[in-house]
Amino acid sequence: MKKTTQLYEGKAKKVFLTDDADLVIQEFKDDATAFNNKKKGSIAEKGVVNNAISCKLFTLLEAAGIRTHLVEKLSPREMLCRHLDIIKVEVVVRNIAAGSLVKRYGFVEGTQLEKPIVELYLKNDDLDDPLMNESHAVALGVASLEELGVLKSRAEAINGVLRGFFAERKLKLVDFKLEFGRNNNEILLGDEISPDTCRFWDLDTNEKLDKDRFRFDLGGVEDAYSEVQRRVLGQN
Ligand code: TMP
Ligand code: ASP
Repeated sequence: MKKTTQLYEGKAKKVFLTDDADLVIQEFKDDATAFNNKKKGSIAEKGVVNNAISCKLFTLLEAAGIRTHLVEKLSPREMLCRHLDIIKVEVVVRNIAAGSLVKRYGFVEGTQLEKPIVELYLKNDDLDDPLMNESHAVALGVASLEELGVLKSRAEAINGVLRGFFAERKLKLVDFKLEFGRNNNEILLGDEISPDTCRFWDLDTNEKLDKDRFRFDLGGVEDAYSEVQRRVLGQN
């Protein structure tokens, strides 16, 4: 598989076309941003860690019958993926109150939610990814009502699979963000699932083991990412 032109460079990844029109290569960078690019930095080896974690989790989801864009892990930083027409909706699933849920609605951080909350955000950096509902998404033309139904039920199914997996690895899956895309009349899970896009707390101590350590200068960022990798990959 040969990389051809660069299709896109995002905050944490580059995407390259390949000589097969249906396949792209996602290359994970060490660059880290937060608060929509207002805070910038780098996390040593993050690209390698996030690629390894994402490949493992996508493989797990595929085994549970949830289709993803993963084809195979090509190298430490490269994932071979099906080429998606990305749906401009970020789907956030929350099991425990944290982050913007606390800020926006006054939940106490750490409150276990009786039922997971699913939220939709418009994927648009210029507008700071605003929270939206189905009517906004349909009016904006980013997805049909039917597609949004698929996204939400898929996100809930993914939460079911991942929560169980992380609990066995002594991690609480607090919340996470998913992106989906269209490929040959199918909707596939895309992007990545990693400590950049999830909140993970240690099951016993509630220690934060995710990008919040970078966002809020908590220190030990690299150690937290490698600890998640160690638990996800079942390494000692
Ligand atoms: P939030 O509490 O800041 O809204 O974040 C909810 C989850 O979504 C959290 O696990 C981090 C993830 N997330 C992203 O992956 N990208 C983003 O741009 C934002 C704002 C959150
Ligand atoms: N991913 C977003 C950014 O790069 C926000 C975040 O993760 O906090 O700014």
